[in-house]
Amino acid sequence: MDWAFFGYKHYPFSVNPITMKTLELFTGHDEEVQLCQNVLHDNNVRLVVEGARGVGTTSFANYLKFRAQEKKLYLAPRVEVSVEANWNLESLLTAVISNIVREMEAIDGKIIKHKAFKEAKALSGRLSEAYNSFGISAFSMGGSYGKSATVSQPSFIPSTTLGHHLRDLGELAVTQGYKNGILIQLNNLDLNVIHSHEHLAYLFNAARDFFQIENVSWLLVGDIGLTSFIATKVDRLDDIISERVFISPLSKDDYHKLIAKRLAYYRIDKKSKFPLGEDVFDFLYDITEGRLRYIFALVYSMLNRLQIGKLVQNVSFDLARDTVSNLVRERLAKFSLTKAELDIIQILGDLGQANVAEISETSEKNRTYISKLLSGLLQKKCVNVTKDGNQRIYQLELDAKIAYLVDAYNT
Ligand SMILES: Nc1ncnc2c1ncn2[C@@H]1O[C@H](COP(=O)(O)OP(=O)(O)OP(=O)(O)O)[C@@H](O)[C@H]1O
Ligand SMILES: [Mg+2]
Repeated sequence: MDWAFFGYKHYPFSVNPITMKTLELFTGHDEEVQLCQNVLHDNNVRLVVEGARGVGTTSFANYLKFRAQEKKLYLAPRVEVSVEANWNLESLLTAVISNIVREMEAIDGKIIKHKAFKEAKALSGRLSEAYNSFGISAFSMGGSYGKSATVSQPSFIPSTTLGHHLRDLGELAVTQGYKNGILIQLNNLDLNVIHSHEHLAYLFNAARDFFQIENVSWLLVGDIGLTSFIATKVDRLDDIISERVFISPLSKDDYHKLIAKRLAYYRIDKKSKFPLGEDVFDFLYDITEGRLRYIFALVYSMLNRLQIGKLVQNVSFDLARDTVSNLVRERLAKFSLTKAELDIIQILGDLGQANVAEISETSEKNRTYISKLLSGLLQKKCVNVTKDGNQRIYQLELDAKIAYLVDAYNT
């Protein structure tokens, strides 16, 4: 798509999280920022950041991290450590150490003369080679060790040794002028989607003592449920959590500010006008429940689909609604849903959330039949389930929910 034609440097709504370069685009969450920034004035803290997928949890953590680095409170590796499903404690620590090593060297090449750095770098280099020869890439941050959770990982170096290196790097960061040492961001702490409960409980229990190493602080970032999981399943970790923040979707007001800021930031020509109006942006906000990643992705697909600039110059509300409706329908079509499954989606959309008994009552079908349909929908990732005591509560996944809500807009 030719953005210059519309008067923009490039697509103003890239789905990339806020980075050091785009900090000024960060909008909203004032209270949460304030709270976390207070906490980050202390040394050795552990902050849990939790929010629904796509609302901006990574960007929030990035914002904290980079602002703290600007103020020389922390050295904060720009790339987060994306914790994968099959990591053990040693691979987590190794990834963290190599992440720090990379950042330190990127900031100041002269760091190489320090003994602690040299040793940590040599170690991470050695481990990286060993992991690679095992056919798994340990240090592609954000990457994965491979799809299979059964890949067994070699334990080359005991975790205590890795802990010593981490401690040394923390001290080194302080001598380099970062008052509170290092701030590490662990991302991807998503239950069910990425990690099983057992795995995350193991990892957190094992990492607890390492989370308490002097001059190293931690941002633990994950999906909804992370805080309560830690509180109920990993109480040893819960005891040492400094603060927990919940990232809600931006208010409509802040959302409008975010859009205006982005358009102004990427605009080349003052007169340029973005092909979507506020009504369309509001519609997207409503159907996605304010999840920015989905909104930005939908805007992109919609503009491409409509061949904006070639066929159409401006997208009206009706055209936007129909296009989104088609896009979502195409996505759902991949799941080859049956009429019975679609009915369940409709019912769950109406009810918001429900257990088997409630769905059975509403649909006037027996529970065994409903359970069978639900397990099919679970497999197709159209619904998700949470446990509340003995109760299993079902809800629509976002794709299905958007389809439901778009339909509601059509009637
Ligand atoms: N507070 C904010 N101000 C401005 N832009 C934001 C803000 N939060 C998020 N964004 C933008 O929204 C998009 C999604 O943000 P981000 O990747 O941080 O979400 P996320 O919750 O981490 O998503 P996921 O759950 O998929 O990892 C990105 O394009 C990001 O730049
Ligand atoms: Mg994220």
